[in-house]
Amino acid sequence: MPYAHITGWGMAAPEAVLTNDDISKMVETSDTWIRERTGIRERRIARDSDLTSTLGVEASIKALKVANLRPTELGLIICATSTPDYMFPATACLIQDQLGATKAGAFDLMAACSGFIYALNMAAQAIRSGSIKSALVVGSETLSRYVNWKDRNTCILFGDGAGAFVLQGSEKPGGVLSAVMHSDGSGGDLLTLPVGGSRYSATRSASQNGRQYIEMDGKEVFRFATRVMASATQEALDAAGLTVDDIQWIVPHQANIRIIEAAARGLKLPMDRFVVNLDRYGNTSTASIPIAMVESLEKGQIKPGDKIVMVGFGGGLTWGALAAEWTGPIPSKGHVRPEQYRALGRVRSIVRRALRFIEGLLYRREL
Ligand code: UT7
Repeated sequence: MPYAHITGWGMAAPEAVLTNDDISKMVETSDTWIRERTGIRERRIARDSDLTSTLGVEASIKALKVANLRPTELGLIICATSTPDYMFPATACLIQDQLGATKAGAFDLMAACSGFIYALNMAAQAIRSGSIKSALVVGSETLSRYVNWKDRNTCILFGDGAGAFVLQGSEKPGGVLSAVMHSDGSGGDLLTLPVGGSRYSATRSASQNGRQYIEMDGKEVFRFATRVMASATQEALDAAGLTVDDIQWIVPHQANIRIIEAAARGLKLPMDRFVVNLDRYGNTSTASIPIAMVESLEKGQIKPGDKIVMVGFGGGLTWGALAAEWTGPIPSKGHVRPEQYRALGRVRSIVRRALRFIEGLLYRREL
């Protein structure tokens, strides 16, 4: 059975920075309160032209470049997101088209902030089963579009961004070692985005009374998160036959520094074993773990051979953790330029539409 290695990584962060001071001009809050209660200093905000798909594509191209893999070699694309471009088509399909990943299946996965862990696990399982050789997992969000900028309980927390991993199968041991996934829908009301689904469809928006924004019971989510971060990490370690002493890094969902500190206490680990960058990005939901990973790799913190655990929690409620042995890119010949595939994307899309039209005509004649 092949092993599923993470061989490429990339991130995209919108340029615009919104500081705590900026937010204190919108709602009654302060930089001091936000920093002390959450650890966040600033977050990125998508431009009008940034979409969940376009941020995802930018991160994906970087990840493919690191892996030195052509988009056409991908067998699967999973986009974990809570803020897709549309209800359907899946944002993963939009990413597939823009990348020119013509042989990949593509779907979105919705498990709120745990989505990236879930998606990584699904992609790793598909590789380990032998059904595909390589996959792209994207976590991308434009949460600022759904933040109520008058609600100080939520608007201080969230930011926009994307991260992507390439996974490839190899007979060499390593890569994803174990994963656990959990859910508890009885807590679904604690963190919701009501608009857009069948209960509060966009067509009934006039009668929604402001249900178009993220709603959260912060205290309850906080309590739940502090409980599950350490336990999920421990479960993933047990499943991989490891102990906390075997791992070099924990990469947690970047929601609140106090939640990460509670996880550190629960695992009896010092904070310097945790990758933290929420001070500069806030909570980017499915993108938070890959963005933290990419920054840590670029700083040279995580090195080949290191064992790591990625752990997350979120709306649903959902939570999960994944243990991996870090390998890095599989040595390969040639020099792939995935951005060229995107440059040709528009033309390729038009050609494919034309071909589909002709195929349709021919098929009709056969009927
Ligand atoms: O991906 C998952 C996403 N969600 C989360 O991770 C959220 C988890 N929860 C949290 O991070 C925290 O609960 C918050 C940061 C949302 C809130 O922090 P807290 O320490 O739980 O504050 P609190 O809700 O207990 O509120 C304490 C006080 C309240 O005032 P009173 O009632 O004590 O007078 C709030 O009204 O702080 C007030 N408050 C604020 N004050 C200034 C709440 N938000 C703010 C604010 N600025 N932004």
